[in-house]
Amino acid sequence: MKIIEVKDYMEMSQKAAEYIIEKVCNQPNIKLGMATGGTPVGMYKKLVEDHQKNGTSYKKVMTFNLDEYIGLNGDNKNSYRYYMNENLFNHIDIDKKRNTFIPRGDIKDYNEECLRYEDLIDKHGGVDVQILGIGNNGHIGFNEPGTSFQSVTHVVNLASSTIQANARFFERMEEVPTQAITMGISTIMRSKEILLLVSGESKNQALHSLLNGEITESFPASILKNHPCVTIIADKAAIAGLKIHI
Ligand code: GLP
Repeated sequence: MKIIEVKDYMEMSQKAAEYIIEKVCNQPNIKLGMATGGTPVGMYKKLVEDHQKNGTSYKKVMTFNLDEYIGLNGDNKNSYRYYMNENLFNHIDIDKKRNTFIPRGDIKDYNEECLRYEDLIDKHGGVDVQILGIGNNGHIGFNEPGTSFQSVTHVVNLASSTIQANARFFERMEEVPTQAITMGISTIMRSKEILLLVSGESKNQALHSLLNGEITESFPASILKNHPCVTIIADKAAIAGLKIHI
């Protein structure tokens, strides 16, 4: 794993955007794995700025999002479809209808949707660069502690700490979904490259466990140590006090 230490959230967002822009310029039909949550918002903003200023084109880019809440349709402002449209897709020249994929959280047969999504990724040759954030409990996508490293796209019951953490985006606690569809750990590990973004003091412990802890299903992100091509961009607050043994 390669670690790039940056000053703060702004610099992390800038560096991450530069990383993605370079990949898109070198491979215009790249398949990007997208993440949601607070962490990548700044990076998406920088990608939009770059598109407007320098014209980086996403016409041939395909995107596959990590996860989606069950029970929310794409018009719901807390759905990850809505998040992606608002933060990125509506502001760049990507073919939103044909080339952006997110698991559907609003259909009846979730298990069928999981199979379809996993198959869709494979059919397109897999993800080239997967962007990831990390949950405080080490979750990646919505793969909570205890998820099998062999898992593919599946339905999850969210950990109560994740529900609490995500409640900040909802008006009332009762509105926070308790289930989601997520790429599995093995889906994520099949991506050719991984870009993990970590910012802020609240992620310090998670980064510490990732870098210095053992590889265990109780801390899902720890599996990333077995991936051949991981880049972590972390800011000072996230790295503070860490002795790094990779
Ligand atoms: C959510 C998402 C993850 C994300 C994590 C961290 O649960 N499903 O993909 O990495 O939260 O979120 P944040 O970046 O807001 O800390």
